[in-house]
Amino acid sequence: MQALEWLENMPQQFKKMPVEVVELSPYRGIVFTGMGGSGIVGEITAMFLERRGVDIPTLVVKDYRLPPCVKEGWLVVAVSYSGNTEETLSAVEEAVRRGSTVVSVSSGGKLKNVALQYNLPHVDLPQGFAPRYALGYMLSAVLSLMGMGDISQKMGEHLASYSSVIKEKAKELAQRLKNYLPVVYATPLTGVCAVRYKAQINENAKTLCHTALLPELHHNEIVGLDNYLTRQMCHFLLLYDREDHPRILRRVQITRDILQEMGLVPIELEGEGESFEERLAYLIYLGDWLSYHLAVLYGFDPLPVKSIDRIKGMLS
Ligand code: PA5
Repeated sequence: MQALEWLENMPQQFKKMPVEVVELSPYRGIVFTGMGGSGIVGEITAMFLERRGVDIPTLVVKDYRLPPCVKEGWLVVAVSYSGNTEETLSAVEEAVRRGSTVVSVSSGGKLKNVALQYNLPHVDLPQGFAPRYALGYMLSAVLSLMGMGDISQKMGEHLASYSSVIKEKAKELAQRLKNYLPVVYATPLTGVCAVRYKAQINENAKTLCHTALLPELHHNEIVGLDNYLTRQMCHFLLLYDREDHPRILRRVQITRDILQEMGLVPIELEGEGESFEERLAYLIYLGDWLSYHLAVLYGFDPLPVKSIDRIKGMLS
């Protein structure tokens, strides 16, 4: 099966790319724009920049329009695996009109043509993948552009060394989640993983998945658990990282205790690895495998995303 082969080989995609690094200091702000399997790349990169102390504001835009603050002096990084996603293309056209600097990443498509038309820097990706199975290539391209190619390379090496452990753990998790609505609770440092888990469970396992983030979930979501239906239907994953704020880690414990009091046993997940980036890569790859195994358990081919293709067709 194609999806299996791509997933097995994903760690190799993270190799540092030989691209020209963008000097960030002249920019007033950075926007990452892209949707779905491509959009997550911007979310991860924005978080990595913040953690490295880059003090330029970053925004993630998953829409046709850019916020009014984005104009000349801003850098817009557009990622679309296919290069044909209309929201991303619209944001790029708007960025060009407003005089922002645009850098794009795709495996071809209209985005590459726009880059050629306006003479914009463009990174070409290998063709023929489903977007979500090219995460490593897209992330490596964007991290390499931002001067973090070595981090991407290390993430890939880390995943390669843990791949059999991750695969097995994911299989066991999928068995536990089968026949439940997966609910992924995450922390500020693992929020991007929750985004990825949801998208991968939706697209690969053709299954709904609910997510909520700490600390906000302690101000609303937690009350929703009072309904017995919620408790009967859901199985909970609780993602966190040891570098989360100490009060967040305390809130993770409290969440676990509250769920346990209700007779629910959340599956607590932290990535393995010395660095935060390694642990994040671990958690993401674990979620990818989990969604794959869940698809198999439900009897779905993980690859086709008929509803997404249908909507794209209806809009064309
Ligand atoms: O994983 C998928 O297939 C989708 O989430 C796509 O990534 C999304 O529809 C956007 O397409 P693209 O990544 O080609 O811009």
